[in-house]
Amino acid sequence: MLKKLKTIATNLLAITWIRKTYEVVNRVFLETFGSSRILAHFFYMFGFLAFNREQAGVLRGRRNYYRNKNQDRTSRVELRRNIHRLEKGLVMRPRRDIFARDYITETVEFYELAAQQCATDTSTMESSEMEWAHNVLAEYFRASTGSDPVVDAARARFAQLAYQPQTSDKIPYVKKNLSSVSYEQLHELAMQRRSVRWFDEKPVPRELVDKALVIGRQSPTACNRLPYEFRIFDDPEMVKTVAGLPFGSAGYAQNIPTIIVVVGKLESYFSPRDRHAIYIDSSLAAMSFMYGLETLGLSSSVINWPDFEPLEATMQKTLGLDVTDRVIMLIAVGYAHPEGLVPYSQKKELDTFRSYNQLR
Ligand SMILES: Cc1cc2nc3c(=O)[nH]c(=O)nc-3n(C[C@H](O)[C@H](O)[C@H](O)COP(=O)(O)O)c2cc1C
Repeated sequence: MLKKLKTIATNLLAITWIRKTYEVVNRVFLETFGSSRILAHFFYMFGFLAFNREQAGVLRGRRNYYRNKNQDRTSRVELRRNIHRLEKGLVMRPRRDIFARDYITETVEFYELAAQQCATDTSTMESSEMEWAHNVLAEYFRASTGSDPVVDAARARFAQLAYQPQTSDKIPYVKKNLSSVSYEQLHELAMQRRSVRWFDEKPVPRELVDKALVIGRQSPTACNRLPYEFRIFDDPEMVKTVAGLPFGSAGYAQNIPTIIVVVGKLESYFSPRDRHAIYIDSSLAAMSFMYGLETLGLSSSVINWPDFEPLEATMQKTLGLDVTDRVIMLIAVGYAHPEGLVPYSQKKELDTFRSYNQLR
């Protein structure tokens, strides 16, 4: 007995020593390599693979961006971006007689490819996106009153294309403030929303998820790309598999009725400078989506998805994701259990996180 106790004590001491040593070494590394950008570069060069999955995803995403250009797709990110740029030019005050000279030719080329796709099979490309592209291009050429050989050539090319839209009004307009939602009502909704982890066994109607997604997709995204997918699981077996993956669902994964994996699409970008947009855009959409759910009587909780290789690899295999698909977060959705508690979750005071005109 005494011998056993002695062994346990020795093991505990060893574990404490290892932990302390690790902490000291870790601190020395962080103090050293965290002190300059060059040293940080060396740190990540030599065997520290922390961001390797993301790096590979960004690179392959950029590769796929170019590869996809000639492929048939439901939605065309390069077309969306350029149409968005044209719309920005159209709303400028004062609007210039000639603008977008440097990208109008490629925009018409992108549109041409989309029109070819529509000509072979109208069902493969989003008609709403196509109509928007057509309407904006038509408006651009109508509004380009100055004479310019590049714009004129693009105009002639556009005029030759046979695509016939059903609409003509998907162009910049004067926004009216029609909302009857008061600050008090929105405040009430914000106070009502809490991260809920205990749900009724009731299934979540898909129509309600879709309605909330309609709110979610209205959120701003960089260049109106909407570079995300909401992968929804409501089959109990699949929910069990997916909800059990993240660490953060431990203890309540088993009672989640619907789980959503929000996936960012890195193939939406030609430049690494935009690599963060998937996180920002998806999160903005997720927040609006969750407010949408609240108005429909549903509750939700975000579940963290850490950049942790074993989890990433499992999720990639389970969902059949490409390296260019980055899991942003998971969202548990369901009807809140009437007796389930939610944490109080005190927020910070405004003074703590808000400043005006402060230069540091
Ligand atoms: C990015 C992110 C990751 C989160 N991860 C988890 C998680 O893994 N598990 C969990 O139970 N809650 C998670 N949450 C919920 C937070 O704990 C919760 O939002 C926070 O405590 C504030 O509570 P509230 O949402 O009720 O205001 C996460 C929230 C966010 C935004």
